[in-house]
Amino acid sequence: MKIEKLVTSGVFRLDGGEWEVDNNVYLLASVDEEGSKEEVIIVDPSHDAEAVYAAVGDRNVQCVLLTHAHNDHCELAPAVASHYGVEVYLHPDDQPLWEETNGNAAYTPLRDGQQFVLGGENVSIRHTTGHSPGCIVAYVASEDTLLSGDTLFNGGPGATGRKYSSFETIIASLKEKVFTLPADTRVLPGHGDETTVGAEAARIDEYIARGY
Ligand SMILES: [Fe+2]
Repeated sequence: MKIEKLVTSGVFRLDGGEWEVDNNVYLLASVDEEGSKEEVIIVDPSHDAEAVYAAVGDRNVQCVLLTHAHNDHCELAPAVASHYGVEVYLHPDDQPLWEETNGNAAYTPLRDGQQFVLGGENVSIRHTTGHSPGCIVAYVASEDTLLSGDTLFNGGPGATGRKYSSFETIIASLKEKVFTLPADTRVLPGHGDETTVGAEAARIDEYIARGY
């Protein structure tokens, strides 16, 4: 499987505030085999639909997968999904956040442990509540890589200072669902630079002590 990244810029809105943000958009793509067209899962298409369409090119799109329903990650999902005639997958615990941004637009509910298959390889969903109630991470074992959304960044857990967030819960999710992965697992977050499971797990006591 190939994992491609593009960075898009826009606005994150919550609790009446607005912040300029850069988002990492990932494309999971099957490797081209003789005679078969590559297939793509779009993860968190953010801010710039045209940039996403250009990155996908003429490949087939399997679905749009959302790590959570903060507006910067989910706002374009209905339009992008309908552009390709595919479904949006989101954990239903983020329903209130989804409604704030996308009203009653349709999505298919994700569950913990769900697997997507792309080019014969698995993408495994882990429900990692904390940054938001419906946060998930997506583990690609064949590439020793975790798409961590806003659950884990280079330098600590996702923010838990705004509504529907909990620091204690994100720490529990990280210990149970993320730091149990191999230490050399690449971590590709929803914002900023990549890291590894081992590098972040080694600092968990520091993160707990500082409280974010
Ligand atoms: Fe977020």
